[in-house]
Amino acid sequence: MNDTTSQLFWHQPKVSIDNRRSLNQHKSCVIWLTGLSASGKSTLANELDKHLHSQSIHSYVLDGDNVRHGLNKDLGFSPEDRKENIRRIGEVAKLFVDAGLITITAFISPYLEDRNMVRSMFPQDEFVEVYVKCSVEECERRDPKGLYRMARTNQIKEFTGVSAPYEVSENPELIIETDKQTIEASVLQLVDYLKTNEYL
Ligand code: ADX
Repeated sequence: MNDTTSQLFWHQPKVSIDNRRSLNQHKSCVIWLTGLSASGKSTLANELDKHLHSQSIHSYVLDGDNVRHGLNKDLGFSPEDRKENIRRIGEVAKLFVDAGLITITAFISPYLEDRNMVRSMFPQDEFVEVYVKCSVEECERRDPKGLYRMARTNQIKEFTGVSAPYEVSENPELIIETDKQTIEASVLQLVDYLKTNEYL
């Protein structure tokens, strides 16, 4: 990849992030949901999005499976491709946060280094890491897409939790245990966090 940034200019926008936030009457940030496949990230992301939308809050979901149909359809599941997947989503999320949205991302993002890389792209209070915690046994029992079964029979390689690692963060902003509580309770936990920390 060529780095041509030295030949580029930065155009200062006329509408600032603060202008957008005061128009919206809420802050913007990225809510980075991370966890195993079938842990509930997409479900939670979409339920939270629905809840925020019903409260006139501007939000949007970036979802791993969906983004891999378009922007990232050239990427697979090797550690290098996952890194590039996360890097691109970090950049897209940055634009969305700049546009004033509560940006909810749902990516396995299994590597600590990649999550820390994306965290470093944001000011501290704009990045909220949420570990969507669920045991691999429960994820495998749910197996909504039949992928764990395929991974166990070696039909899918490098499957997170089976033949590829998931590295747990020590200090995520929030941990949501989807094998211990309902989706409604998990959404409330997220909304509470956003209110307590004055994002809303
Ligand atoms: S990430 O690891 O690069 O963050 P991402 O969240 O984009 O992954 O995509 C994960 C989704 O891709 C899973 O929910 C599952 O539907 C699908 N998938 C296909 N192959 C794999 C694999 N080898 N490991 C994990 N997920 C896979």
